[in-house]
Amino acid sequence: MNYNNIYVNTENGISTLVIDRPKKLNALNRETLEEIHQAFKSFKEDKNTKVILLTGSGEKAFVAGADISEFADYSVEQGADLAASGQEKVFDYIANFPKPVIAAVNGFALGGGLELAMSAHFRVASTNAKLGLPETSLGVIPGYGGTQRLPQLIGKGRAMELIMTAGMINADKALEYGLVNHVVPLEELMDLAQKIAGKILNNSMVAIAKAIDAINANYDHTINGFEREIKKFGDSFGTEDFKEGTSASL
Ligand code: COA
Repeated sequence: MNYNNIYVNTENGISTLVIDRPKKLNALNRETLEEIHQAFKSFKEDKNTKVILLTGSGEKAFVAGADISEFADYSVEQGADLAASGQEKVFDYIANFPKPVIAAVNGFALGGGLELAMSAHFRVASTNAKLGLPETSLGVIPGYGGTQRLPQLIGKGRAMELIMTAGMINADKALEYGLVNHVVPLEELMDLAQKIAGKILNNSMVAIAKAIDAINANYDHTINGFEREIKKFGDSFGTEDFKEGTSASL
């Protein structure tokens, strides 16, 4: 598929989605969000896509936020619609995606950019990364899940401080907070992400989809996560992967 603001490369089971508006520090305008949604819809059907890596183009930014120029004159209703449709089509869609999604944070991850990275199942970062939710400095609050996912990942007090101060943390602090799992120099970032994806590919993708669902249940107040785990554990016994995996192991 042809996109204007992103590009996708699929090789050896790994699809890399690059957000490609480097002159605007990869800021998320409406068209980019729609293209990300379309790309993820294709990944769902594509048998060659088993793991997805999400990163930004250039050496400066992962994503510097939602495109401020687009919503400067929005009304209350338009603001709410922007957040609702973004959450549904991109941020929740990625968080609940049945294939692993790893964000490779290669620079600024601000506002919607950090929210995008937090929607991924986990994150790795380069040493030059800077992460934050500066929305309150613009008179708004994070609208793509940031007020929910940031405290889940780093704890309430740290999230409160980061959002209230509209500050940025560097990669080392993000590592200390558990916001990212690993930090490496920029030139090693994609190799690291590929290496982790390669380890995931050794395992059952059917089981991994069930694990994503069960882990996410912990963050959904309408679901009992332990019951969801029992159900998904049981379902595993009916899969070819289980039969193959256990007989090979035995
Ligand atoms: N929306 C739209 N455009 C953005 C953007 C955003 N979120 N972030 C950066 N850009 C654009 C700039 O307007 C500039 O475009 P121009 O060259 O046409 O003027 C270009 O990207 C480069 O940004 P610039 O500010 O010149 O780079 P810098 O190195 O001086 O600063 C940042 C980098 C990330 C600190 C700064 O761009 C910034 O604060 N961006 C906004 C971050 C933000 O508030 N995000 C949350 C939005 S809710």
